[in-house]
Amino acid sequence: MAEYRIAWLPGDGIGDEVLQGARIVLDALHLDAEFLSGDIGWEFWCREGEALPPSTIDLLHSVNAAMFGAITSKPAKAAEAELAPELRSKGFVYRSPIVRMRQLFDLYICLRPCKAYTGNALNYRPGIDLVVFRENTEDLYAGVEFNPVPEDLSSQLLRMSKSFGPFSQLAGDEYAVSCKINTRRGSERIVRAAFEFARRFRRKKVTVVHKANVVRATDGLFLETAREVAKEFPEVAMDEANIDALVMWLLKSPFNYDVLVAPNLYGDIISDLCAQMVGGLGFGCSANIGEKLAVFEPTHGSAPKYAGQFKVNPIATILAARMMLEWLGEKDKGNRVETAVARVIEEGRVKTYDMGGSSTTLEMAEAIAGKL
Ligand code: IPM
Ligand code: MG
Repeated sequence: MAEYRIAWLPGDGIGDEVLQGARIVLDALHLDAEFLSGDIGWEFWCREGEALPPSTIDLLHSVNAAMFGAITSKPAKAAEAELAPELRSKGFVYRSPIVRMRQLFDLYICLRPCKAYTGNALNYRPGIDLVVFRENTEDLYAGVEFNPVPEDLSSQLLRMSKSFGPFSQLAGDEYAVSCKINTRRGSERIVRAAFEFARRFRRKKVTVVHKANVVRATDGLFLETAREVAKEFPEVAMDEANIDALVMWLLKSPFNYDVLVAPNLYGDIISDLCAQMVGGLGFGCSANIGEKLAVFEPTHGSAPKYAGQFKVNPIATILAARMMLEWLGEKDKGNRVETAVARVIEEGRVKTYDMGGSSTTLEMAEAIAGKL
């Protein structure tokens, strides 16, 4: 039996192509793993009304880790329109399978390192090395949403909150309510993960991202909890920033930042910004980490317009595979991938279209495998 069981979830669009790239690298390392394919994505939503089928959930219960490609997500009405006719109006609601995996398996850490590799012409500045810790299970992603808004909810809200007054006259289908739910436990564990990382890798500072001056209850709780956790890590500086100011300052003075920790939605937003600062989504990798399972993926989406062309950059996915190796305890193999990626970028001979070249997805993967 192989040492590791790894679920292999290509998903939609270019997901399969970038995973093929990662596989070339993992195979070249002779990782002793069994790769188990799982169904996931838009096709299964249209056919079965579930983008994350039960068989895939079972598979995920039986593996050490998963590699995930990409997924197409569409707003509720567009999703309903593509459902098989016999499934329409049966109460199926599209839920993003990656968001579901994060919640079902309590993958509460979304870890997104963004490092400017030497020689990458797409770097915003040389030397950027940011790490985003994004809370991954709650906040505006909780999925507690109403449109139309039921009458009993609106009357409760009117009773309980003065601020609801101006909305209370609206008909239920004239507005929508999404609940931003942040827990003390959820905030505490993501902030602790960020500080533990900073301690372990001798990072100087953790910046807590919030909007507690306006979103007082939820972000207030996140910030207050973060301040408590920070006291346990006296050797790591703690810094606080409002999300709006932060995105401006990040661009202005990227070297003032190091590790960033944020509630789910702000973390989603800043991780795209940070990825762009190191070359774009072709370089942004993610680990979704829980106590029992971790799912590794590129930060980018399914890029349907490029599907089938084998032109997108597989580096993000290869770096995600590198994170998986580390998580499995294969530190040496992980370091070899890191060094190989850095060398290919620095040499600049093999470049995908986003890097200004014309190498294919698999040529890039082969070049990296060749440097292992
Ligand atoms: C990400 C993506 C997802 C998210 C989408 C595809 C649901 O943007 O992983 O950052 O919003 O979390
Ligand atoms: Mg995102």
